[in-house]
Amino acid sequence: MAVRSKFDNRPIGIFDSGLGGLTVVAALRRRLPGESIIYLGDTARVPYGDKSVEAIIRFAREDVAFMRSRGVKMIVAACNTVSAVAMDALRSDHLAEPLLGVIDSGVRATVAAGARRIAVIGTRATVNSDAYRRGIHAADCSIKVESIPCPLLVPLVEEGIVDGPLVEMVLDRYLSHLKSAPPEALLLGCTHYPLLKEAVVRYFDGRTRVIDSACACASAVADFLCEHQMAAQADNCAVHGYFVTDMPAAFGRHAARFLGEVPERVEQILLG
Ligand code: DGL
Repeated sequence: MAVRSKFDNRPIGIFDSGLGGLTVVAALRRRLPGESIIYLGDTARVPYGDKSVEAIIRFAREDVAFMRSRGVKMIVAACNTVSAVAMDALRSDHLAEPLLGVIDSGVRATVAAGARRIAVIGTRATVNSDAYRRGIHAADCSIKVESIPCPLLVPLVEEGIVDGPLVEMVLDRYLSHLKSAPPEALLLGCTHYPLLKEAVVRYFDGRTRVIDSACACASAVADFLCEHQMAAQADNCAVHGYFVTDMPAAFGRHAARFLGEVPERVEQILLG
């Protein structure tokens, strides 16, 4: 009788519209150093957050098809926009690989924070989907949730601008109404935003607890692999591959801010 191996050294596939999902990669690499990762940033079409639902679903399907072509053991949509808008469509495709998004883990981390008044910031598409409010209210409908679209934040992060007067001005444009009475917790509902965490904490003078959805997602991936006996062997020599749909050199340079190192190689691919 064949004995099923309790380990799986195949890579985890992680994708986002651009650099943002690297916050999940960084958190995952810290947590599970033995896991190999294939990362795809759809840099030719970033940002997703301002596109139509139909376009986001089409892009997400192409991202997933690429991941599958690389023989990954599971796929992580490290993109709140895709997770909020396209997950049902992706699930209806009956993929052989398990698929995880970031909304459920973000909701769990937010509810666990125990705050009664919460602000969620995200892309326009994520906020329009109402996915976070619905998720939080499914757990506890007495929590007050305000969702705020912040479309200018993704381009700032993609440009490498994560602090200074420009960031303050943009934060002020979206969040000034909360300044005098900050929410008890604020969820960064976009994987690009953890790079702005310090700026957000400073903006509220440390008076709100800022929740990072990237860390919450990395924990969910680790738990899933462990539960399903799909984790790589502890001594597995992890290999990481980075793929983009445009501007690989610029991606490599900016990626260092997320990963703490410049990826050895970034390959450009064509989707669809
Ligand atoms: N980082 C993504 C998210 O979490 C996508 C941002 C965008 O492309 O607009 O929503």
